[in-house]
Amino acid sequence: MIRTGTGAIIGAGVGVAVWVFGKLAGSAHAVKTVSRRNFVRNATLGAIVIILAQLAGGFLRFFWPNKTGAFGSVLTVTADNIPAVGETPFRNTAGKFYLVRNEDGLLALYWKCTHLGCTVPWNEGEDRFHCPCHGSIFFRNGVKESGPAPRPMDFFPVTVTPTGDVQVDTGSPTTRNDYDPSQAAPYPG
Ligand code: FES
Repeated sequence: MIRTGTGAIIGAGVGVAVWVFGKLAGSAHAVKTVSRRNFVRNATLGAIVIILAQLAGGFLRFFWPNKTGAFGSVLTVTADNIPAVGETPFRNTAGKFYLVRNEDGLLALYWKCTHLGCTVPWNEGEDRFHCPCHGSIFFRNGVKESGPAPRPMDFFPVTVTPTGDVQVDTGSPTTRNDYDPSQAAPYPG
């Protein structure tokens, strides 16, 4: 309703602009005048065009949903899912990452293998990430132990909230050549 009203107002504005332009053009040619009928017609057409454009925009927006709760957005891992130091990494399917906790804090490791992009699963028995495609093996901090992968697993920025929940920004994976403690987000407790 508000949008439609706004469109009508903007359309009327466009109509006025057209009318003024017509006036100027008319004075330039010193003959032609814009009648009241033309003014009303221009204002109406302008309003219709603006309203249709807004409706079309809203229609397209409907098919372009926000990326919330999906890979590429900021995802939350609640405090009760944060693993203890050395525990099995927490797997987040939507975010395609493992949340690992070591002595330095939390690491959100992108599970896409840095070799050819396979999904790298955690192997509990090996205490490693082990890519099934060509055998790359990564330590729990994501650094490569062996295999053809050219670099460690990428990681996502982690923010610890005051409640102990953790936010992982899956929109910006960071590449690295080695592990550095600054890559981990300190986690209290
Ligand atoms: S894709 Fe993982 S080792 Fe090749």
